[in-house]
Amino acid sequence: MQKFENNGHKIYQGDALEIMKTEIMDNSIDLIFVDPPYNIGKDFDGKKDKWENDIDYLEWSYEWLKICIKKLKHNGSLYVMTSTQFMPYYDIFLQDRINILSRIIWAYDSSGVQAKKHYGSLYEPILFCVKDKNNYTFNTEDILVEAKTGAKRKLIDYRKNPPQPYNTEKVPGNVWDFARVRYRMPEYENHPSQKPIALLERIIKASSNKGDTVLDPFSGVFTTSHVAKKLGRNSIGIELSEKYLKTGLRRVGISTEYKGEILEKEIRTFETEKIEKAAILKLF
Ligand SMILES: C[S@@+](CC[C@H](N)C(=O)[O-])C[C@H]1O[C@@H](n2cnc3c(N)ncnc32)[C@H](O)[C@@H]1O
Repeated sequence: MQKFENNGHKIYQGDALEIMKTEIMDNSIDLIFVDPPYNIGKDFDGKKDKWENDIDYLEWSYEWLKICIKKLKHNGSLYVMTSTQFMPYYDIFLQDRINILSRIIWAYDSSGVQAKKHYGSLYEPILFCVKDKNNYTFNTEDILVEAKTGAKRKLIDYRKNPPQPYNTEKVPGNVWDFARVRYRMPEYENHPSQKPIALLERIIKASSNKGDTVLDPFSGVFTTSHVAKKLGRNSIGIELSEKYLKTGLRRVGISTEYKGEILEKEIRTFETEKIEKAAILKLF
């Protein structure tokens, strides 16, 4: 296990379950966002995201779900993701242990062919849960979106007395539309299931306050910690892979160097082309 810390932000490299058990106090975290391996065979820096069988995956998941609940403060919130096929099991497991307030669909489009003989998967489910449904943080004003119906067409709601224009803003519903992180996007890091900054911004703004602590046990390239820092929250991120740890150290501004290596963002192919073209132009 390795630990790095700077200015309210902690990064651990190692197994999330062990680190949560030994390093994080019970009832100490305001918000937990969990984006675990989905058991669908992705390659996480050489480690295959596939368990021997589905029961093993679920037993492993239930273990960290129980730990997460223990680590949450009494007024804390938990957001959990997994693949569409495993979410029903998570949902049933959590129903007896925490309050599920929203079942969110993160929907996205894809230009590629998803499937030919069935309907391609164009969403990922997210559960929004709280320990105490009468006492939890939800900053409505910070996440308002445009209310398209009515307000956009400047309609008047005649059911009100006196009649009033429709609201121009509303709390987002449970279908979220954020673009997936693509290779050419400025926020892209080299990870097969990096989550969008915009998705984490909504979650962290809604379910935590400045100075609160946000935990992400399967941090990948540390999107959660990166956004938490930007929004003035403290963060704890855990990740198994050393490669992704290095991205995290840079992205969260904890270190510019790791074991003598300068931590710089990987140059993408189209950027190399630009650099080469600029160099050629300079020669003339
Ligand atoms: C779905 S990805 C998380 C992506 C992340 N949300 C992001 O935006 O970059 C899951 C991550 O969990 C890591 N992981 C897998 N098993 C782990 C374990 N036992 N402890 C800590 N991290 C683990 C993988 O290396 C992978 O990077």
